[in-house]
Amino acid sequence: MATSAFKRLPGFRDFPPEDLALRSHIVETWRRVSKRYGLLEYDGPPLESLDLYVEKSGGEIVGQLYSFTDKGDREVALRPEMTPSLARILGDRSRAMSKPIRWFSVPQLFRYERQQRGRLREHFQWNVDIVGEEDVAADAEVLAVAIDGLREFGLTADHFRARVSDRRLLSALMKAFGVEENALAVAFGVIDKLERVPRETSLEALVKDVGLEISRADALLEIFDAVSLEGLPEDIIKSGEVSTALARVQTYLGALEAMGLREYVEIDLRIVRGLAYYTGIVFELFDTGRDLRAICGGGRYDRLLELVGGEPLPAVGFGMGDVVLGELLADSGLIPEFDRSIDYFIVTVSSDERAEALRIAHALRENGRSVAYPLRDQSLAKQLKAAVREGAGQVLIIGPDELARGCVTLREMESGVEHELPVSELE
Ligand code: HAM
Repeated sequence: MATSAFKRLPGFRDFPPEDLALRSHIVETWRRVSKRYGLLEYDGPPLESLDLYVEKSGGEIVGQLYSFTDKGDREVALRPEMTPSLARILGDRSRAMSKPIRWFSVPQLFRYERQQRGRLREHFQWNVDIVGEEDVAADAEVLAVAIDGLREFGLTADHFRARVSDRRLLSALMKAFGVEENALAVAFGVIDKLERVPRETSLEALVKDVGLEISRADALLEIFDAVSLEGLPEDIIKSGEVSTALARVQTYLGALEAMGLREYVEIDLRIVRGLAYYTGIVFELFDTGRDLRAICGGGRYDRLLELVGGEPLPAVGFGMGDVVLGELLADSGLIPEFDRSIDYFIVTVSSDERAEALRIAHALRENGRSVAYPLRDQSLAKQLKAAVREGAGQVLIIGPDELARGCVTLREMESGVEHELPVSELE
């Protein structure tokens, strides 16, 4: 058997119609929710200067870049995420824009990742960002979009949760435990890995790499074991920076409560986020069964726009990928059946009716109806089989006798009921 000599690259997908239908369902749902929140859609180029990502996105993404030197000797990269492009695009024009800026986009992104469940080398990612507002109301608004983005598919709090933390709260806690300012990034790295490595390893890293005494390191880890804010020691809560950060998180939760979305939100201080540019509240959405990778991740990044040379503007946003979401929808039985239906299929008894069939087909299409017919002469039986295959709701049978009377026969495919009707009525 002959097979194609060309194989699809690993980590990339083809989208035959039944698969494209799911992608379109996902993207259309995201667009609908975006519009409800007054977000405007934008896009940018899939290829950017390499240095837009180096240092801004952080080590992990930079190691996964599809980068090369182009024919003009420029170092370029396929976009692995949208946020640096957004910062660059706004850098050129934000001064002239009224704030806050509420934008969304659904770019295809490229990361040279190790292929595994939920991770491919390309994916489509819904990006929602609010730029120019530092109030925590913007953080709450952004998380509400993400939650509603999933609810719109029929997912509920039984299916997913948002796990929220705050890098400012984390910094304040760390400092209260004696972590020096210059060791904070390393300490964040330890917290980020808590769920993937044994406790002993984390303890050792806090002592050796962060410079904490073992008893302090142990007490710090206990805070993260507890996950919630309830277990925080009294003396720590009273420290100025911690209490400011805590108050901000409480206001945030209050806003989500007022929207009726509080049940979707859990505080989990172990959420740090891998990307380097986050400065405040950060979050990730996960399936409740915790079988899948993160569906969505985001947070506040108040310094990125300035870093890429733009107006210094606070910003908050998220990215939600189509891959993990598709898996969750499949696991939850929420993928709509593939619908390939058309309104009419036209069947002709002989080739003498062909011209009339074409005329009628075109008139119906002019009226916005979907119409198909056989592209060569075929037996009536074959044509009717094709009508079923095409998912036609109604079949128009054009024969010489009916046509002589100015009529066609219309068969309702579901009931099998047939009746004659004047061609003029159809048009
Ligand atoms: P991220 O956490 O790198 O954030 O990606 C966000 C989401 O995109 C992930 O939760 C996941 O669903 C999906 N995703 C990421 N990489 C892959 C992959 N290789 N295959 C399939 N899906 C993937 C960002 O990209 C930030 N720029 C989001 C953001 C926007 N923050 C602020 N604004």
